[in-house]
Amino acid sequence: SPMKKMRDTVDPDCKFVGDPIPDVEARQWWPHRYDEKLNFFPIAEDDDLFAVAHYQQAQIAINDFVNLGDDADEERDHFIGRIVEFFCTTDGRAVATVQWFFKAEDTVIEEANARLVDSKRVFISDVKDDNPLDSIVSKINIVKVSPNVDLVAKKVAIPPCNFYYDMSYSLEYNTFSNIPTATVGTSDDGSSCEKSATRYKSKKDFLGSQLEKSEITLLDLYSGCGAMSTGLCFGASFSGVNLVTVRHEKAENFLSLLKKWEKLCARFSLIGSVCSQTPDSLLLVNDENDVDVDVDDSRPEDPSGEFEVERLTHICFGHPNKRKEVGLHFKGDVDVICGGPPCQGISSNNRVRNTAEPLNDEKNRQLVVFMDIVQFLKPRYVLMENVVDLLKFSNGFLGKYAVSRLVSMDYQARLGIMAAGAYGLPQFRARAFLWGARPSERNVVAYDESDPKKLKEALVLHNAISDLPSVTNDEHRDERPYE
Ligand SMILES: C[S@@+](CC[C@H](N)C(=O)[O-])C[C@H]1O[C@@H](n2cnc3c(N)ncnc32)[C@H](O)[C@@H]1O
Repeated sequence: SPMKKMRDTVDPDCKFVGDPIPDVEARQWWPHRYDEKLNFFPIAEDDDLFAVAHYQQAQIAINDFVNLGDDADEERDHFIGRIVEFFCTTDGRAVATVQWFFKAEDTVIEEANARLVDSKRVFISDVKDDNPLDSIVSKINIVKVSPNVDLVAKKVAIPPCNFYYDMSYSLEYNTFSNIPTATVGTSDDGSSCEKSATRYKSKKDFLGSQLEKSEITLLDLYSGCGAMSTGLCFGASFSGVNLVTVRHEKAENFLSLLKKWEKLCARFSLIGSVCSQTPDSLLLVNDENDVDVDVDDSRPEDPSGEFEVERLTHICFGHPNKRKEVGLHFKGDVDVICGGPPCQGISSNNRVRNTAEPLNDEKNRQLVVFMDIVQFLKPRYVLMENVVDLLKFSNGFLGKYAVSRLVSMDYQARLGIMAAGAYGLPQFRARAFLWGARPSERNVVAYDESDPKKLKEALVLHNAISDLPSVTNDEHRDERPYE
């Protein structure tokens, strides 16, 4: 975090210019700076600063000025931020309050995976702190752009700038998400505003515009016995959504199928039309009998013996009509991808883990396959589960790799740990989860984050056996009736 201790302004060329902001207005915007009872932090901090006046503009060098709302470079390590307050303190110090932007390497992605994210892309945080005015060294231009999973279209839309941002980053929750309205200190019209949490009024409003569909398709990669998709289907039905689960066998085969599918679509100029023709149908089956042979007998036969393909509905590996041969059929698109890629290469039970190059392990490579499939299908939501070692092994490289892949695809993303015991299960098992949501979806997790959180009471042994009669030291019976 770029936070640090406040020092005095030492550069005499640095000063506020122009009239102070009218007192009434300043007290309205920044009441905590004028009234000690309205402490900014719930627990009073030693260095809470109080103001005698706020300003609109400051001089940072001869003939070099910055305004409230400008973006600026800060002296040490080139931290970058947006100026949200200029004020003179009760003890005569000139202060700039800065809301920080995080570069990818400053987030959970960290240095080792930062190359996956465009170097000009930064994330607005809600971390703000007070700095001596002369720590601001130059004005820079950070523009806001819209996140877009179509990265080519996004690139075209970025105007010339030093940096650009399209998402916010929460340090506390390791979360990249859409920017709620009015979280950035100064809005586009130049007026300052405080953070206001976005409230979702209805389920439709919260879950996004596409929820009119009553059925949502789910692709469970690495499905094993299918527990993950079964759980998701249960959860979805509680919310009145019908999740249609789809399974398949080898993820890497499925990925090559997708690549072939794309080539075929490009060759026959079908990109864009194929998916929209079958928006809610993704079928992956290994049933050799499930081969559509729709022959329209009513048309006259082409005398040349050539047929025109109207649209491709399936492609498959293997011969679809030969029994006992594996055939993967695919058509349409998918709303949700979930999966728990194999974890033997990560688990601390494995004594020959490849710590130096974690992705150079056959099992761990499945993380790449998983993310490549997400990149191809661009589902609305992604959920990946793994052992907690994903976040520990090799300094958490693999977990950070996975989150940076999602972020680089312009998905909102959150990485964290959930403990089964906190959700009503009588066990302590903890698992790492990675959530992703397209920027068109309202949230990365399926609830309103501003609502108070209430976890279930933990189940303990007492809940299971406390109704049994107690056994004393002199008990001689092997069995007793239940009393
Ligand atoms: C950690 S388990 C996932 C369990 C699953 N989420 C569930 O709810 O049962 C990993 C699963 O991936 C399967 N698997 C391993 N390699 C695979 C591959 N290349 N493609 C698809 N599945 C694979 C394993 O058979 C195993 O069932």
